[in-house]
Amino acid sequence: MPEKTYDVVVIGGGPGGYVAAIRAAQLGLKTACVEMRKTLGGTCLNVGCIPSKALLTSSEKFEEAKHSFAGHGIKLGSIELDLPAMMANKNKVVDDNTKGIEFLFKKNKVDWLKGRGRISGKNEVTIEGDGGSETVGAKSIIIATGSESMPVAGVEVDERRIVSSTGALELTEVPKRFAVIGGGVIGLEMASVWGRLGAEVTVIEFLDRILPGMDGEVSKQMQRILTKQGMTFKLNTKVTAAAIGNSGVTLTVEPSKGGEAQTVEADVVLVAIGRRPYTAGLGLEEAGVEVNQRGRIATSAHWETNIPGIYAIGDVIEGQMLAHKAEDEGVAVAEFIAGQSAHINYDAIPGVVYTWPEASTVGKTEEQLKEAGVKYKVGKFPFTANGRARALGMTDGFVKMLADATTDRVLGVHIVGASAGDLIAEVALAMEFGASAEDIARTCHAHPTLNEAVKEAALAVDGRALHI
Ligand code: FAD
Ligand code: NAI
Repeated sequence: MPEKTYDVVVIGGGPGGYVAAIRAAQLGLKTACVEMRKTLGGTCLNVGCIPSKALLTSSEKFEEAKHSFAGHGIKLGSIELDLPAMMANKNKVVDDNTKGIEFLFKKNKVDWLKGRGRISGKNEVTIEGDGGSETVGAKSIIIATGSESMPVAGVEVDERRIVSSTGALELTEVPKRFAVIGGGVIGLEMASVWGRLGAEVTVIEFLDRILPGMDGEVSKQMQRILTKQGMTFKLNTKVTAAAIGNSGVTLTVEPSKGGEAQTVEADVVLVAIGRRPYTAGLGLEEAGVEVNQRGRIATSAHWETNIPGIYAIGDVIEGQMLAHKAEDEGVAVAEFIAGQSAHINYDAIPGVVYTWPEASTVGKTEEQLKEAGVKYKVGKFPFTANGRARALGMTDGFVKMLADATTDRVLGVHIVGASAGDLIAEVALAMEFGASAEDIARTCHAHPTLNEAVKEAALAVDGRALHI
């Protein structure tokens, strides 16, 4: 056994890993977290959730100042973009957040072992850092090494002209033509940022709809709204090659099912066709840890791999690649290791797309219920009929509630609209408590709030919405 030993060693300091480390330490376990990046916080804080939301906020303010203020009776002079200042603000937000995690580690007495971690033997992790290599003992190991961007064959990312989300968060000028491969969450969020700042945006999507994981009506409505905002969508289309020339990037595209090729010209191309688990150099094979066909680490219901004492959480295992899912797994696995019971309700994990308007979802989509043969009722309420949405001048979108036809239990809610990401929280909570649509309909909602649209959708499940 190595000289230095811990109860728990977490490999990866993202939302899954750092939360698991903090919770384990809170429970009295001697804990270390191995992170090879120069800062803690993983993909989410460094190159994901946080910087993207900083740029989404800044670009939204720019757009509002240009197009919405006048309607509220606010006259401005000329509006100019200061991109370096916008980027500096984003970088500061990231710095403040990542330093915050470092502070939390100190506060909770979690050791940050700096470097690349590898499972080097039974109950052993070896860390290769700038100062050399160190091996520590671990009664339990939690793998939380996250994910990386998936490549497109024939389209090589150079993070300058052809970028992943990381490069798209660092552009030094607004591209005149911005092409996005993949009409999913990253694609639409980054398309929104650069579109608002002045780029002509083309989104190339392999399937026949954008946001394929969301409810079909949400996809349709989002495409309609984003098209109105100026985005061009090429659905049922695949990219087969990319050539970088003096005047930009030429993409060769063709129908997904094959057919005549065309070209799309762009100054910058974003590749956003999904992410895959990141397990390079982790020593999984040597340790005998099983991964499934998609490269994700296979775990039990309690996040334990096939090797006792080695656990895995977050993007590297099955499930939605979301920061809050990783965080909840971090808490649960730490509690399980500490001998407590631990459970996550995977049917009540919300998902939010931070475009304008936002799109959010929790539970089953209508397509999933149909496929499963579940009998359901639908309640829908548009924001045009919500007083607060009118006052805000933000009437795009709706709340759609799906409830079991027999029991009235809420099975899924899908929202397009201002603050959809916040509105979904009350539904996630309701679903966690096994609420019926009637429970939500009979809960007093403050007036005038956007949340009243959730209550009205619940009333609409039974055909008794009041304001439509
Ligand atoms: P990660 O955050 O990827 O962290 C893994 C960490 O492990 C990394 O820091 C990596 O350096 C480290 N690591 C890997 N291997 C080793 C090793 N061998 N040794 C030491 N360290 C190692 N999710 C949301 O919920 N909301 C959002 O708004 C959102 N926005 C996003 C925007 C973008 C552009 C991207 C790319 C992702 C976004 N996500 C969002 C997804 C979210 O970032 C991930 O789901 C989340 O970060 C997963 O957490 P994790 O802890 O599993 O892994
Ligand atoms: P995604 O899975 O959301 O979207 C990928 C899109 O690309 C899909 O629409 C898919 O049909 C399409 N596609 C796949 N192959 C293609 C091809 N060859 N050509 C054209 N289109 C193709 O993945 P994305 O956007 O890369 O995001 C990765 C992960 O990060 C997601 O799982 C998401 O959960 C997470 N994320 C979450 C955010 C949030 O919660 N707001 C924001 C950003 C990312």
